[in-house]
Amino acid sequence: MNYPPRVKLVDVGPRDGLQNEKTMVPAAVKIELVHRLQAAGLREIEVTSFVSPKWVPQMVDNAEVMAGIQRKSGVRYSVLTPNMQGFEAAVLSRPDEVVVFAAASEAFSQRNINCSIAESIERFRPVVEAAKAQNIRVRGAISCAVGCPYEGEIAPERVALVARLMKNIGVQHIGVADTIGVGTPIKVQRALEAALMHYAIDDLSGHFHDTYGQALGNTLASLEMGVWQFDTSSAGLGGCPYAKGATGNVATEDVVYMLNGMGIETGIDLDLLVDAGKFISDFLERKPNSRASTALLNKRNA
Ligand code: HMG
Ligand code: MG
Repeated sequence: MNYPPRVKLVDVGPRDGLQNEKTMVPAAVKIELVHRLQAAGLREIEVTSFVSPKWVPQMVDNAEVMAGIQRKSGVRYSVLTPNMQGFEAAVLSRPDEVVVFAAASEAFSQRNINCSIAESIERFRPVVEAAKAQNIRVRGAISCAVGCPYEGEIAPERVALVARLMKNIGVQHIGVADTIGVGTPIKVQRALEAALMHYAIDDLSGHFHDTYGQALGNTLASLEMGVWQFDTSSAGLGGCPYAKGATGNVATEDVVYMLNGMGIETGIDLDLLVDAGKFISDFLERKPNSRASTALLNKRNA
């Protein structure tokens, strides 16, 4: 098996993780988390989203968080922008990358962003144009690429369709997201293959939630296909307010532990990463949702 020699992880904890917390996390804590993640060697961090505060109040401090970060050179800071209103607000915070997010399921598109898949693409079109004009990279996400809380199983053809639509409007990179964490390795490979009909392997990433404990297996199945970019979440934070029951993203700590063991380079210091996950988990008054973190913390305390 030829695994990629190097993997890039995008920590989406500050956004995907904290968007789903019942307790309001102060901007200062979010900023500290970002600082700890970049100190641990993360080169890309999804910081926040410029969405409606009526829909997702957890991200209302988006501009404050972006302004508070002491940027480290070589680190890319990305934010979610579902429409021009979000983009115009986001651009004042100088993101390196914006993320437009569509769904492979019509029902999820309606619940999550209040429009059809086709309408969402029309909302993204000017965002992509404006971003490119300002030299801001554009990443796309395809939610519910394997399963949907409202429609059930999603056929790979749906993923191929959305990937094609994203490609047509100029989205540079596509993330295949198992939003509710129902995917298993072969199904995830089919979804990735569908996206690969329109995107090169270097422009594609996997985003796996761990609801059913499959995310590490799905990551390995992706690596076998040559996929080398993944969204992960420190301490396994995460979820989506419009996907009830879905738990966090695969923990960055667990993925780094696996990759270290496979001799795959990430540039991430696992000890500092564990500290970052412990920091945010302590704030949230819970234990990190990561087996690797738990094992390493137990070892430290032994
Ligand atoms: P809408 O209601 O259809 O928008 O919302 P609208 O254009 O009709 O405007 C209605 C109101 O929203 C107006 O305010 C606008 O100003 C405001 P009002 O006049 O009523 O006071 N508005 C905004 N405010 C702030 N920022 C904006 C914005 N746009 C309009 N950008 C919208 C459409 C997309 C904004 C809304 O549905 C929304 O915010 N949804 C939340 C989406 C979200 O954040 N979901 C979670 C992230 S996606 C995810 O987690 C999945 C992912 O991780 C991958 C995976 O795992 O699948 C990415
Ligand atoms: Mg997600």
